[in-house]
Amino acid sequence: MTTAYDKWLKENERVLDIGCGRGTITKLLRHHYSLQLQACDIKNYLIYNDIPFKKMASDKLPKFKRKFDTALLNDVLHHIPKENQENLIKDALRVAKKVLIFEMKPSLVAKISDATLNKFHYGDLSTPLSFRDLSEWKSLFKKLHVKLEVKVMRKPFWYPFSHIAFLIQK
Ligand SMILES: C[S@@+](CC[C@H](N)C(=O)[O-])C[C@H]1O[C@@H](n2cnc3c(N)ncnc32)[C@H](O)[C@@H]1O
Repeated sequence: MTTAYDKWLKENERVLDIGCGRGTITKLLRHHYSLQLQACDIKNYLIYNDIPFKKMASDKLPKFKRKFDTALLNDVLHHIPKENQENLIKDALRVAKKVLIFEMKPSLVAKISDATLNKFHYGDLSTPLSFRDLSEWKSLFKKLHVKLEVKVMRKPFWYPFSHIAFLIQK
């Protein structure tokens, strides 16, 4: 994760982690980049009580007094039906200057492994498997008229997931 965000996340930035889940990645990124971090999620799965957290009432982001430098959507968008992904991304672009997205490349092995791991870690987490491949993500970002940077992550041969990281900004 830190490799994906190198040069994109800067030390001390104000960051909103949308869909923070248990907070494991939140904590890791906060420590690695010394971030001023706020987390939010539609459910509270946090296992750390030192992470500032706001629960989302619905798919809409809570109100914040100040804008963030960066909003993160780590492994979140494929848990949202495709028709709702666009609105959450637009909302993230409204509250932050740039949005970093970390998503899995769809494959049968990745889908099965993701559903299994999520059952283990999150139990009731909805998994509509609304993955997109790189070209589908690109066409969504084109529709949103955003500037785009892409990193296709390298993985060891035995690891079931391939990831893509995106930086988008208005
Ligand atoms: C697989 S977890 C990822 C957690 C964390 N971001 C990480 O990388 O470890 C997916 C998270 O997305 C959250 N989520 C699902 N739908 C959401 C929505 N519409 N808005 C915000 N978070 C959502 C879930 O509640 C869950 O915590």
